[in-house]
Amino acid sequence: MPWWFFRRRSRPAASQTAPAAASGWQLGEVALPRLHGSRRYLQEQPYLLPKDLGEVNRLDFQHYILRAVLRGNYLAPIQQPRRILDVGCGTGQWAFELAQQFPQAQVVGLDLEQVKAATSPPPNYRFVQGDVLKGLPFDSDHFDFVHQRLLWLAIPLQAWPDLVRELARVTAPSGWVELVEFGTGTTDFAPTGPATERYLHLAGQLAALRGLDTEGVIMRSLDRYLRDAGLTRVEYQFFEVPLGQWGGRLGSLLALDFRESSKGLSGAIAAHLQIPEQEVLDLIESAASEFDEFHTRYRLAVAYGSKPPTTH
Ligand SMILES: C[S@@+](CC[C@H](N)C(=O)[O-])C[C@H]1O[C@@H](n2cnc3c(N)ncnc32)[C@H](O)[C@@H]1O
Repeated sequence: MPWWFFRRRSRPAASQTAPAAASGWQLGEVALPRLHGSRRYLQEQPYLLPKDLGEVNRLDFQHYILRAVLRGNYLAPIQQPRRILDVGCGTGQWAFELAQQFPQAQVVGLDLEQVKAATSPPPNYRFVQGDVLKGLPFDSDHFDFVHQRLLWLAIPLQAWPDLVRELARVTAPSGWVELVEFGTGTTDFAPTGPATERYLHLAGQLAALRGLDTEGVIMRSLDRYLRDAGLTRVEYQFFEVPLGQWGGRLGSLLALDFRESSKGLSGAIAAHLQIPEQEVLDLIESAASEFDEFHTRYRLAVAYGSKPPTTH
């Protein structure tokens, strides 16, 4: 059997235990048009960001920013993992790099859709299509390292505890789970000017329509989610990254990332909150200018924990 052939874990009714069951999210509740202008979005998903070439480029660009901030691709003390899973893998760039770093490991990227299918990934990488809100299509105790980064605009707040339990389920005894998330609340950007505050308020209103976190609760709860999922040796680290040119090269890149990701939300903000889209775009530009005026910083957190070894 090829290594990437995983059986679905047999469960009587996946929807009873899948994270979506706890999320309050009903499919089709706030469906976006699949195309908005030149941007393409997923329907029937809470996920708010576009799925198109522009977003592929932004995610790759953001990956390099995050790697610089964390000074590496992960913080957990993994040794020689044999199986690695990246949940919500996006472009797969993080997983490609792990596959290169650990050529003996089998690396799986899971996402709703495969992007960058035309590029040639490392031979020990495999994409698996899946929806983490419906449960992961893998056996229990399978992966030595499970990583999930930046799903706060995809997973309703209420679904997080069950989601992290699902990540822990597929993790092997003594294996590690690592979670990486930006803050989502207005206080996670500080100090801020009026345009930034107004934009964050609008983005928060949109996120609330989908049951997504608007207060930075997820970022602050990552370690608790891991402990509640039965993981031990839990560590939590908090980063404050400068936004804007005042923060040097990294700050400039992160401000550009903020602008591009915010533009990806502008159509939905305009449509759902009945504001002209140009007004939202102008607000995003003003917010980006304020970062240098106010020396704004943006918060990011990383938490990791280990599944206890089996005792028998
Ligand atoms: C902001 S991107 C982050 C991508 C990647 N983790 C990174 O850090 O570059 C979020 C990703 O999660 C995926 N996603 C959203 N909802 C998902 C779900 N329910 N199940 C699996 N993947 C999902 C999206 O398709 C997107 O690729």
